[in-house]
Amino acid sequence: MAIRKVVKIGNQTLRKTSKPVLQFDENLWQLLDDMTATMIETKGVGISAVQVGVLRRAIVVQLEDDKFLEIINPQIIKTRGKAIESEGCLSVPGFYCDVERPKYVKISAYDRNGNPFEFEAKDYIARCVCHEIDHLNGILFVDLTEEGRAYKKSNGVE
Ligand code: NI
Repeated sequence: MAIRKVVKIGNQTLRKTSKPVLQFDENLWQLLDDMTATMIETKGVGISAVQVGVLRRAIVVQLEDDKFLEIINPQIIKTRGKAIESEGCLSVPGFYCDVERPKYVKISAYDRNGNPFEFEAKDYIARCVCHEIDHLNGILFVDLTEEGRAYKKSNGVE
């Protein structure tokens, strides 16, 4: 496992749409291991491949202290409710703001071996999953609120 460099806001890689993972091979496993290591090192709770500069639809979310969920090629099946809570991002260091997200989300995805699974999450984990899926579509949490847009403007980043 290696710590990779986290891509920061202002770098246009973060604005690109990630492509589906097609090969569930050792390259993917290495990427996922490195993403987890990088997330732990930087004290994040979720990370997407684009944040380490790889434009593939792969995410790791921390479920518990030592439990991590790898999510490949996710699709949102269902959302329910709304919740507003403070949010941050490894790619936007030092900035936090309240963001509205679904209170509940159900996704389908693949694990690192290409096996399909479904996953349901609520509250904090649901927030995290939605935030990371946004990354795969080039969306950052600062795009979603007035405060976030003001942050981008005052820092001259997009
Ligand atoms: Ni993020």
